Amino acid sequence: MALAEVDRVSGRTERDSGWWRDAVVYQVYPRSWQDDSGDGVGDLAGIASRLDHLVSLGVDVLWVSPFYPSPMADFGYDVADYRGVDPLFGTLEDFDELLAAAHARGLKFVMDFVPNHSSSEHPWFTESAASRDSAKRDWYLWRDAAPGGGAPNNWKSSAGGSAWAWHEPTGQYYLHQFLAAQPDLNWRNGAVREAMLDAMRFWFERGVDGFRLDVVYHCIVDEQFRDDPENPDFDPDTRPSFDAVVPTFSTDRPEVMPLVIEPMRRLADAYGNRLLIGEIYLSPEKLVRYYGEAPASGVQLPFNFQLIFAEWRAEPLAALIRDYEALIPDGEWPNWVLGNHDQDRIATRVGPERARIAAMLLLTLRGTPTLYQGDELGMTNVEIPTERVRDPWELNMPGLGEGRDPVRTPMRWDASPHAGFCPDTVEPWLPIGADLARLNVAAQSREPDSMLALHRALLALRRERPSLSLGDYRSVAAQGEALCYERVHGAERTFVALNFGDAPCQIELPDGATGTIRLTSRPSVPNRDVEAVITLAAADGIVVALRQA
Ligand code: GLC
Repeated sequence: MALAEVDRVSGRTERDSGWWRDAVVYQVYPRSWQDDSGDGVGDLAGIASRLDHLVSLGVDVLWVSPFYPSPMADFGYDVADYRGVDPLFGTLEDFDELLAAAHARGLKFVMDFVPNHSSSEHPWFTESAASRDSAKRDWYLWRDAAPGGGAPNNWKSSAGGSAWAWHEPTGQYYLHQFLAAQPDLNWRNGAVREAMLDAMRFWFERGVDGFRLDVVYHCIVDEQFRDDPENPDFDPDTRPSFDAVVPTFSTDRPEVMPLVIEPMRRLADAYGNRLLIGEIYLSPEKLVRYYGEAPASGVQLPFNFQLIFAEWRAEPLAALIRDYEALIPDGEWPNWVLGNHDQDRIATRVGPERARIAAMLLLTLRGTPTLYQGDELGMTNVEIPTERVRDPWELNMPGLGEGRDPVRTPMRWDASPHAGFCPDTVEPWLPIGADLARLNVAAQSREPDSMLALHRALLALRRERPSLSLGDYRSVAAQGEALCYERVHGAERTFVALNFGDAPCQIELPDGATGTIRLTSRPSVPNRDVEAVITLAAADGIVVALRQA
């Protein structure tokens, strides 16, 4: 990347400018990417064997969800050893090979790190639970029952029910903001902080380029364990129990910056320009605080999930982008996420046609985009028969829409019965799902107007035009139901219009400019010069290279 250019945009030093600014992140959920060992579950060797897909797609950063040793109560987000690889996924040698193979292709490698909780089978927790006098008792959050009996306070688990589990042998409750098999670590304890930073050091030493920090805003809870305020709008018939309270005292506490994030950032910087991404589900106003008050004190990319919850209409989208842009602190860099392994697929949320212009939006906004595996094919949520449900969230909160299996089904490489994910002789851990003939990499590689072809074209154009990767964002008034904006970098200007409406609309190029349509939602449409006004079909989009006035 041209560092000098970044500096001009950001006004920051070379050290802070960061390779992630013009990069595109791609998330791999390792259980469901490629099974090399033939047991129906994906693994590290499988990832290594499919790296060329990422290269031909044109992404820059591979983020892999957890592959640590784990009892798999939450499919790896319950870590039993922060310095290893679960045999299901392979060995440390497989990891080293995968990392080297990714680096050899010019891909950066970001690991998941799960700081808020370990597995209840982590030796730290076993020791902590052994007795009230255990040297590691204070590594987790143990409390007596409330005076009248019952849980110490009203905090709720995101995985259903109370956030407190009773531990009979020692007569106390322990805190788990997720599953009972995921006890919360006590980050106020300096020894815990040291041990966790040491674990990060272990992977930095091996060469990883950064971490995605799982639910990092949960890591510190109120020191006085005050009750969370009740949510007056809670409807127990339609909403999961965690919605009964507003998590004021159990999440997003001010001490999370000095006790958790700042030490992590110092460590990352000590290794030189490594990336920290924070998984933080908060309002934009609260989210941007995680950049840190002082330069280089927070995470470089606090995940911005607004597109996951957005209303897909031009005006609200324009407002959301404008407000977020206005909140980004000086010198910091935005980011956008369209999907992940916890959320309904974008093609299910907006339908297959609008998923195309959603991809155009994701890949032409200012900020580092994160793509979730399979979304580049337009994969939709897969229906999971009751007997095949695996996600504990669905099992704990049935029928409330919290289950995540439908978005974690295997990646589809070809149209063979198990999609090339695992041998046809073994059952994949989750079903492959319908529509396989259309939704697979091989078929879409042959089809010039496929969703995959659109992603490849968008990523190539983004690479070709610095205005799309590094340029400023300039809002242009919505025209009809079309969201319009410009990206500007020096003399280069790119105009984007995305028609989220159901009718065609007329689009005027800004300032009466002329230009060349470089891309529509059908990438095989040839480039075409345009004068001031263009008609844009419903659910279509255009990316226009504007000519100098
Ligand atoms: C994050 C992960 C999710 C996991 C939870 C608990 O939200 O993305 O999959 O269940 O944290 O670790």
